[in-house]
Amino acid sequence: MEQFESFLVAHLPTATSFHPHYELSLQRMLIGGGKRFRPALLLSVVQAYNPLLTQSAYHVALAIELLHTYSLIHDDLPAMDNADLRRGIPTLHKTYDEVSAILAGDALNTYAFEVLSDAPLSDKVIVKLVRSLSHNGGVNGMVLGQAIDCHFENQRLELDQVKMLHIHKTGKLIAASLQMGAFIVGRDDLAQKLYDFGIDLGLLFQIQDDILDVTQDEIKAGKTTNNDEAKNSFVTLLGFESAMNEANHLADKIMKRMKSFDENLRRELSPTLEHYINRHKD
Ligand code: IPE
Ligand code: IPE
Ligand code: MG
Ligand code: MG
Ligand code: MG
Repeated sequence: MEQFESFLVAHLPTATSFHPHYELSLQRMLIGGGKRFRPALLLSVVQAYNPLLTQSAYHVALAIELLHTYSLIHDDLPAMDNADLRRGIPTLHKTYDEVSAILAGDALNTYAFEVLSDAPLSDKVIVKLVRSLSHNGGVNGMVLGQAIDCHFENQRLELDQVKMLHIHKTGKLIAASLQMGAFIVGRDDLAQKLYDFGIDLGLLFQIQDDILDVTQDEIKAGKTTNNDEAKNSFVTLLGFESAMNEANHLADKIMKRMKSFDENLRRELSPTLEHYINRHKD
């Protein structure tokens, strides 16, 4: 992941103009923060099946991280979660203003597809990747999840509806990361299995995030916490104990399903999964 980090720094969006902070506003949230969970998942699949494609895959991993980072910048805006801290630094609308944060999000969203289009991969593969990222990040993916999340604040949803919300706002991009890894190495036969696995993993990741919202302070989390009271989070819906049980149950299920993967994939995915699978207990 160190090499991916250098790649990211070398491919930050740049824009020369007389605007005093435009360029910096695009770069700030990308640098030196974030777990890079989605890039790590994608790169694990590539390492498992064709490590020679790792360098090409950095472009794709960066595209996902760019789209994800845009989603965080917009998620923190006053109109959405109204958060002051992200990745250990003040949110963009706090450092600059709302206009800068909205536009930085817009720019990173489109820059993601520019980076993806420039990846040294075949046109055919690139089209599949563009489709996966846009489908899972957009209309019926992350954006739908965010729309439901924000619209139903202060209104209780059913458990199935909250699962649907979490799968969209978080699960789909995580599932796409694994699926896109399979597309890069030409293992389209594995893409669906990895995608389905990613949906469960993404659901767990968001339940954990809901738990960490109440257990971690903002220093530890690097972002504003205790911010989900009005939200349909797993903790507000089920209470703390049941949310923990749900996370434990899903974590067990995911580790068991890992065993059905071949040895190469298990070897490459294990370090990332083991690092995050119990993070709700931190
Ligand atoms: C935060 O994502 C928002 C969710 C989808 C839970 P991450 O927890 O991956 O945030 P970073 O990338 O590490 O900052
Ligand atoms: C946001 O979920 C998921 C996104 C698509 C950005 P949250 O609102 O729970 O994410 P955090 O807790 O602010 O990182
Ligand atoms: Mg949110
Ligand atoms: Mg938020
Ligand atoms: Mg959260």
